[in-house]
Amino acid sequence: MTTMSVDQGMVQVPEQMASTLALGIDIGGTGIKGALVDVAAGALVGERRYIPTPQPPTPAAIAEAVREMRDLVGAPHGTPVGVAFPAIVRHGVVRNATNIDASWIGTNAAELFSEALGCPVAVLNDADAAGLAEMALGAGRDAAGVTLVVTLGTGIGSALFLDGRLLPNTEFGHLSINGIDCCPWASAAARVREGLSWAQWISRLQDYLGFAEFLMWPDLIIIGGGISHDAEQFLPLLQLDAPVVRAVLENDAGVIGAACEALEVV
Ligand code: BGC
Repeated sequence: MTTMSVDQGMVQVPEQMASTLALGIDIGGTGIKGALVDVAAGALVGERRYIPTPQPPTPAAIAEAVREMRDLVGAPHGTPVGVAFPAIVRHGVVRNATNIDASWIGTNAAELFSEALGCPVAVLNDADAAGLAEMALGAGRDAAGVTLVVTLGTGIGSALFLDGRLLPNTEFGHLSINGIDCCPWASAAARVREGLSWAQWISRLQDYLGFAEFLMWPDLIIIGGGISHDAEQFLPLLQLDAPVVRAVLENDAGVIGAACEALEVV
């Protein structure tokens, strides 16, 4: 059994675990989640913490929230840090801003967070992070061929894998049907925002996933995001060629994927 203690707000971990430990932070449109992760075990160490996303979600406000999260989690000094971010992140630089403040575009998030925390930080797209976690430890474990991970939340995120290897920043959530961007149209948030019935929303999701499948011909589709809790409401009704399964890491996927990336990159 793993033993841990808390000393002056900092989690103390056994030495043999320290080398596989990373802090994962997942920034969402409404909330920020964070936890220490034992990447080797694929498990959170201690509680997952939550703080609301500051409004407006500017670079300075989010950098401050990331620092607050590090302190809240009590990550031991020197723990690698990974951040999952809800936008395209190429070599640390944010390239679009659908669910985050427009002032992020062109911001080097990796540098910003590294300065805020005083240590190197790996930053990647949130859906890529969730996908990496599912492929390593969840529903995509051992999946060969093409796997498409779709996260349904405030927006739609995508992560595409070939034999477990990620093609980053695919942004297939923004496929457009009849000139309509699917991201705000078929996301989980759209169902709530527009007061759609399950049937109405499932019909949009079917159109979206059907189109995505037609373009990519994945061997497996994994549905993640908060709505995967309610997977039994919609998964059995989808008519797709590939098997569609729910993500198993649910709300922890982004945090775990960010931690995996931190150990890999930092
Ligand atoms: C963004 C993606 C992100 C997704 C989920 C989309 O609006 O463009 O980068 O992965 O939302 O947060």
